[in-house]
Amino acid sequence: MSKRQLKLGANLSGVGNSISFWRHPDIPVNASVSIEYYKQQARKAEEGKFDLLFIADGLYINEKSNPHFLNRFEPITLLSTLAGATSHIGLVATLSTSYSEPFTVARQFASLDQISGGRAGWNVVTSPLEGSALNFGKGEHPDHSLRYEIAEEHLQVVRGLWDSWEDDAFVGDKEAGIFFDPSKLHALNHRGKHFSVQGPLNVARSSQGHPVIFQAGSSESGKNLAARSADAIYTAHETLEEAREFYRDVKARAAAHGRKPEELLIFPGIGPIVGRTEEEAERKYQEIAALVSIDQALNYLGRYFEHFDFSQYALDEPFPDIGDLGSNSFRSTTDKIKQQAREQGLTLREVALLASTPRTSFIGTPEKIADLIQEWFESEAADGFNIRTVVPNGLADFVDLVVPVLQERGLFRTAYEQTTLRGNLGLEIPSNRYALESVK
Ligand SMILES: Cc1cc2nc3c(=O)[nH]c(=O)nc-3n(C[C@H](O)[C@H](O)[C@H](O)COP(=O)(O)O)c2cc1C
Repeated sequence: MSKRQLKLGANLSGVGNSISFWRHPDIPVNASVSIEYYKQQARKAEEGKFDLLFIADGLYINEKSNPHFLNRFEPITLLSTLAGATSHIGLVATLSTSYSEPFTVARQFASLDQISGGRAGWNVVTSPLEGSALNFGKGEHPDHSLRYEIAEEHLQVVRGLWDSWEDDAFVGDKEAGIFFDPSKLHALNHRGKHFSVQGPLNVARSSQGHPVIFQAGSSESGKNLAARSADAIYTAHETLEEAREFYRDVKARAAAHGRKPEELLIFPGIGPIVGRTEEEAERKYQEIAALVSIDQALNYLGRYFEHFDFSQYALDEPFPDIGDLGSNSFRSTTDKIKQQAREQGLTLREVALLASTPRTSFIGTPEKIADLIQEWFESEAADGFNIRTVVPNGLADFVDLVVPVLQERGLFRTAYEQTTLRGNLGLEIPSNRYALESVK
């Protein structure tokens, strides 16, 4: 068996994950809508031999939203352009199953997959924000469990559509006048509770068979969806113990569905802050933290809790008891915030500042960050990491300073093994379900 290899994704997000990132002198204020900025970041990640670019997304904004959310590119459109600016790196776009039609989704991702030569991935999300419903005219925002029920069926339909054409269906025999072999074209004929889709899809499979399926959502329903149907899961953890427990739990759920551990890859998101010295790294964090006002931090925290107004509480008192609030939106995230506040006895001010400028343990010298990554990887807390940019030049620092250490230690590749995302992630090409049937 070949040695397990670390995987890396670059979570690109323009003016940033944190609310005041845009104010930093070294960040272009239009980064979220600058294709040049994205191309430069994408090329840097590819120079670092990253497996993939990852683009998060959302469908509802208001005046309290994070600046990056206010004015940003739609992920598939963005990645279609980045496909032309890169040659090996995977391209993973977030798209919600609660507000999309499976036929359109299957078609868009299959197209991106063809355009990029088999490098597409879909990050399946269910849209946490209730306001999303106001933009789609479909009535009420589905509750958490219904969203996951819809996601399950949606994903099955998309997968079915991707198999519409067997890989050798397009004969293209000009002499004989045969464009395709009709016995290799299949209609899905899906009739389910939430979707009715006949098919076939009007685009064939790429060289990786199906785009790679990511799932982002760490509640019970989220873990079950990933265990059954995803190739990878994007998650967030504060501590090694928590990450190990999550890893063990999700791999066990996948095994219960007859899947091997290496068929479902776990990618915690981290925001490393690299300095040539510990002090330099700490200084970089403080520069960003100093740009956030407490009012902005309270706003930011409120977004996770259905835009709850936290300003009515005393800042230096313990984090208030807000009951179940948040459990219908960002459930796993809000559960974690409440738990952390309780266990560590944090005040409202501390919780808000931490949420708006997260300070992970991945801060320090390149060797220290490589040690932590190695520890998480080898103790089965992660198969890879999604690297978020939380300080200016964060991705470039990681590529220039941390990647070489990981490579020297034999943990990370020095050249791409394959041209497809599946190939680089070590995932199998899914067989076409109809081709499989015909050999039975
Ligand atoms: C690490 C992580 C990243 C997520 N990224 C997105 C995203 O980019 N867009 C989105 O609409 N939802 C995102 N979600 C939310 C979930 O997809 C889902 O809509 C909702 O929060 C319920 O997730 P849960 O299973 O964690 O409770 C993310 C969730 C997690 C845990």
